[in-house]
Amino acid sequence: MIVLPIPERWRHYAILVEQRAGDVPDDSMFLPSELALRDLVALPRRRREWTVSRTALKILARQRGAIAEAHDGLIESDAESRPHLRDLATGRSWCVSLSHSRGFAAAAVDRRPVGVDVERVRPLSLSAAHLFLTDGERDEIESARIEDALLHSWCAKEAAWKAISSMHETLKSVPLRLIERGGQGLTFEGPALTIETRRISPDLVAALAVTV
Ligand SMILES: CC(C)(COP(=O)(O)OP(=O)(O)OC[C@H]1O[C@@H](n2cnc3c(N)ncnc32)[C@H](O)[C@@H]1OP(=O)(O)O)[C@@H](O)C(=O)NCCC(=O)NCCS
Repeated sequence: MIVLPIPERWRHYAILVEQRAGDVPDDSMFLPSELALRDLVALPRRRREWTVSRTALKILARQRGAIAEAHDGLIESDAESRPHLRDLATGRSWCVSLSHSRGFAAAAVDRRPVGVDVERVRPLSLSAAHLFLTDGERDEIESARIEDALLHSWCAKEAAWKAISSMHETLKSVPLRLIERGGQGLTFEGPALTIETRRISPDLVAALAVTV
């Protein structure tokens, strides 16, 4: 697993990684109850994604000082599959977010709601835009002269939704307003959130949603 370079201001919140063929998972990072949850995941590909995203989360949580040791952090998901992290040493809970996409994974952590999404670059048809964008949002995206603009907006919606999924049932119901277009990504304003997207590499677009 290699850690990918990300924008400076993302480093406080997030980590992006790429899986490598022959990666050997470090199961010593996980608690027996976490490994028991992984055993319930049927597909080998999903088990690998489970492992790489949660390994990345434990690395980030230690760097961030959320936990002192990997074993102090218990990663669980609630009934809506929303993940969270509890520091067993202090009893403190942290907001977290996870994502995986065909060999890439991401994790984010903060005291306040946070969301992360990674998407391997692929063509998205404009005819699918109505599934996750309002007409106004689609018009804004169409005017943003950036390669793979629709994928950036999908990624932004996913990251925003993960941060505030308890308040919104669907991606489409999370309102996003485009406030800045850069060469490598877009910046959106959402409900009490700022969401940034970036082309991380020719193969990868990522988005980070943080509470403002
Ligand atoms: C849940 C959803 C975000 C998954 O997205 P995805 O691109 O397939 O997968 P990602 O790898 O980026 O994200 C998966 C992670 O999202 C997280 N997640 C799932 N449900 C969540 C929720 N309710 N709140 C926050 N995070 C959630 C989980 O951590 C999951 O990883 P895990 O299974 O290893 O725990 C996606 O199904 C979705 O967009 N739901 C919104 C509902 C909606 O509008 N759907 C219609 C889309 S057209």
